[in-house]
Amino acid sequence: MNNAAELFHPSHFAKVRLPAYEAEPLPHWAYTSQAWYDREVERIFHKAWNYIAHKSQIPNQGDYMTRDIAGVPVILVRGKDDEVRAFYNSCRHRGSKILWDEGNCNRMRCPYHSWSYELDGSLGTIPLIDDDHLVKSELSLHAVRLEEMNGFLFITFDAGAEPLSSYLGSLPKEWAAYGPDDFVCTRRVVHQVKANWKLYFENFNDSLHVPFVHRSTLARQKVSGRQRASHVETDGRYIAHFTHHEGSRGLLEEDQGRGFPLFEGLEGRYLTGTYYPCILPATLFAFTIDSAWVYELNPKGPGLTEVALTSFFSKDQVARPDFEEVAQRYYRRGDIIVPEDNFVVERQQEGLSLPVGMSGKFTSMETLCHAFDNWVLDQMVEPQPA
Ligand code: FES
Ligand SMILES: [Fe+2]
Repeated sequence: MNNAAELFHPSHFAKVRLPAYEAEPLPHWAYTSQAWYDREVERIFHKAWNYIAHKSQIPNQGDYMTRDIAGVPVILVRGKDDEVRAFYNSCRHRGSKILWDEGNCNRMRCPYHSWSYELDGSLGTIPLIDDDHLVKSELSLHAVRLEEMNGFLFITFDAGAEPLSSYLGSLPKEWAAYGPDDFVCTRRVVHQVKANWKLYFENFNDSLHVPFVHRSTLARQKVSGRQRASHVETDGRYIAHFTHHEGSRGLLEEDQGRGFPLFEGLEGRYLTGTYYPCILPATLFAFTIDSAWVYELNPKGPGLTEVALTSFFSKDQVARPDFEEVAQRYYRRGDIIVPEDNFVVERQQEGLSLPVGMSGKFTSMETLCHAFDNWVLDQMVEPQPA
């Protein structure tokens, strides 16, 4: 199945399109084929609003961080006017990456021939050369469109994309309960996972695996119910579920009662569990009663995903004298749970490497996986002519 016209032919997906209880998952090549992946980069990641960071990760003027978003190198930098900007991380001379990792700088200097850029992207100096044809004002770094919502920063490579506020719909009203404007990102751990990014998204929305994969960890916490909403049921580009349980989902069972006081001002259902909105295409949020965390899924190819787990606490929690000691209990939870998930999605990726088609099945606990697969199809495959 290497021929592109054949790979994307709508007839292959008729059973994915059925109602959830009768439907099949995406065919295996949607997780393994380079041609499929290349089209995802073009049609999904280059069109979407991609989450990139929280403003607390670059708090000071001159702070910068770099990311490759589905292969596109991007710089995020806080200017001397306190404004956060995003640029393509590509020198206007001959294209070298300018910065890598993260840090603080007065100017962004290219490592190759030392052209340097101000923090607002304008070209500052060109050492050694005094050529008339080099007009500095025409050689600023190319900006990437960036918008913020409650401290969360998103970028898009599509100049025609709708505003972030309409992309997110009413999600900001939901997460406002947790006060994300006052969040501080205190830790970011990166895992290289040998699996397709969609398997990670699906796993996060599949509650069926919890009693098995997290048998001695997450599953020890009693869950009393779940509510699910697909992207068709929400008014934004996100899929969400809410899990009702006692205690904090940010702590393992043995650490319950040894965490931080609850976020201030939580009301109603937000006091009774954890809210998991997953912004399409590839960012998985979790807000519980006393902490929050985000999985950034950054695809590197059909069979490799960089998964970054970031931890968030409120400014008040971070200011406590016992912050570091108590935060370790939340970090431990992530350090144990994430490898459990990594293990199964890697085994799933291996099991999907097939030379023949073999249709799978969804169950009633995987309706959000079905919704996600259909959203992917909406972006990837032309509708079948009536
Ligand atoms: S490529 Fe950046 S200065 Fe030459
Ligand atoms: Fe899991």
